[in-house]
Amino acid sequence: MHKWIMAGLLCCASLLAVFLLLTGLPEKEQTATNSPAFVVPDRAVDADASQQIYKNNCMSCHGTEMQGAVGPALAHIGATMTKEQLYKIITNGRGGMPSFEDRLTEDEIIMITTWLASQK
Ligand code: HEC
Repeated sequence: MHKWIMAGLLCCASLLAVFLLLTGLPEKEQTATNSPAFVVPDRAVDADASQQIYKNNCMSCHGTEMQGAVGPALAHIGATMTKEQLYKIITNGRGGMPSFEDRLTEDEIIMITTWLASQK
């Protein structure tokens, strides 16, 4: 009799483990930008379109010549930050830096990230 109870408990436990594993997966995908394996896809630099995005969204805080204002200078940001770091900051925001996840499309964020990373 005891054996059956043990077997039942073991069965419940493994079902629970499988359930947690399955429901845990979508959450992992959502935080993909936080995993070290995250890579911004390689694109050609589109300076004109990127500068337009910069003018409309970033210039007010980072300055007309990227010299810095409310936010730090970005003129040589590519020398100190990787595309992945830039992408994360622009997407999620940080401190006084707003998140652009809902204001720019994924494509626009990749575009400006690629351009900023080329500013060395
Ligand atoms: C409302 C003002 C504001 C706007 C708009 C803004 N930023 Fe920022 N940004 C900041 C501030 C403030 C910081 C410093 C954040 C900190 O101290 O963690 C910052 C930090 C950064 C950094 C990190 C720089 C470093 O040296 O650590 C990057 C990169 C950046 N911003 C890019 C952008 C881009 C690209 C845009 C436009 C899409 C933008 N920012 C728009 C205020 C702004």
